[in-house]
Amino acid sequence: MSVQIAPSILSADFAALGQAIAAVERGGADLIHVDVMDGHFVPNITIGPSVVKSLKRVAKIPLDVHLMIEEPDRYIEAFAEAGAAMISVHVEVLPHLHRTLGAIKALGAKAGVVLNPSTPVVDIEEVAGEVDFVLVMSVNPGFGGQAFIPRSESKVRDVRAALDRAGNTAPVEIDGGIDHQNVARVVGAGARIIVAGSAVFHTPDPERATRELKAAAIGALSSPAAR
Ligand code: DX5
Ligand code: ZN
Repeated sequence: MSVQIAPSILSADFAALGQAIAAVERGGADLIHVDVMDGHFVPNITIGPSVVKSLKRVAKIPLDVHLMIEEPDRYIEAFAEAGAAMISVHVEVLPHLHRTLGAIKALGAKAGVVLNPSTPVVDIEEVAGEVDFVLVMSVNPGFGGQAFIPRSESKVRDVRAALDRAGNTAPVEIDGGIDHQNVARVVGAGARIIVAGSAVFHTPDPERATRELKAAAIGALSSPAAR
């Protein structure tokens, strides 16, 4: 699999999300990363299914919906119906993770699990054969614009190894503090879906930032570390 770029609209102007999506699509974005926060699991509140439904009308590329909410089981159907192609849930809030993943797939979306920086990789071991992707948080979730936590690089390697042991070729996604400086390292560690918020939208030209980030990520694929 090549590397996919998923700009996070959390850092975009919420009054102009359609234009933000169009710009990153022109820049070659592969997915639109949508951060859903409930003010409980994380100390911030963002958007719900009705906004996702509107984004779905304008986006040409799939919506990757990251649920940072305490009770994802109550909302996965609404997000799937709103048009989420990928739905990821945090292991920290789910005692019945296996069931939740099955429910997401039954709704026709790709099912992902997310690990907070302090959550060990062993927490996904038992579902490593079932997941469609694993998202490694490289910041504590809640806000864009935070600094990348360096230990996340080795965590990407460990998650990749856990998936490989389960015989699962599902991609590892990374989210938080990714920029032009560190993207090659995380691709080298095995990340194949790259989320970036401020590195794309807090620039004068999000289209160009997307194009350059993608080029850097794909360039890293051909370096010896990524093979
Ligand atoms: C953080 C979100 C991220 C965030 C990334 O809770 O899950 O998707 O938008 O933003 P940057 O790339 O600025 O760290
Ligand atoms: Zn996210």
